Amino acid sequence: MSNNIIVAIDGYSSCGKSTLAKALAKKLHFIYVDSGAMYRAVALYFLRNNVDMADHAHVEEALKNIHLNFHSRDYESHITLNDEEVSEEIRQMPVSEKVSAVAALKEVRREMVKQQQRMGKSKNIVMDGRDIGTAVFPTAPVKLFMTADPKIRAERRYKEIHIKEPDVTLEEVFESLAHRDYADTTRLESPLVRADDAIILDNTELTPEEQLQFALDRVEPLLKS
Ligand code: CDP
Repeated sequence: MSNNIIVAIDGYSSCGKSTLAKALAKKLHFIYVDSGAMYRAVALYFLRNNVDMADHAHVEEALKNIHLNFHSRDYESHITLNDEEVSEEIRQMPVSEKVSAVAALKEVRREMVKQQQRMGKSKNIVMDGRDIGTAVFPTAPVKLFMTADPKIRAERRYKEIHIKEPDVTLEEVFESLAHRDYADTTRLESPLVRADDAIILDNTELTPEEQLQFALDRVEPLLKS
């Protein structure tokens, strides 16, 4: 049996999961997997190819034509969609608007979860997303469930995106996050929910260093045992 360590980080949209996951992976020399980037890349493919989400056969066919790969450079995760680097495009509003609907599809989840579980087979990893501690790695030894004040989350995301998309307003970002949280928590397939054994981490008033320390305090004891 493999005894690699998996750290599962779930939580609401834009509450700092990837900042924490990256920092943690860097500090511990674990592999970082941004599961949201996978759903975003699938959503980008669906947008570009007008995939009809109501047509199961079309969705299955599209999934066969999607090849995703991560390339890690200094713990910044870069993703390719059929060999094209799409890391920037998947963060923009058109994809953000579409991704939760795409991620709610059973066929899409089945395929992404299969790929994610494969990545966690033998290596120490930190994976962030919505269903990592509940569906992808239900036996992960460390599970964090992140949350933060919705206004703070919107401000953080706005700062991130308005350099590349100056026309997007703070209100639009706020609405988009609220919409995604609603879609993610109410969908039928693996909704966003805290696993019973996940520790809540509200980072509204925490600095990145403080949240990193919070997580390290939970993972480091496992490395010594
Ligand atoms: O970075 P942010 O918190 O805004 O979102 P993300 O992690 O990039 O995820 C984008 C979307 O993908 C989420 O709103 C979910 O709809 C979906 N997702 C999911 O369903 N399951 C995951 N494990 C990760 C993301």
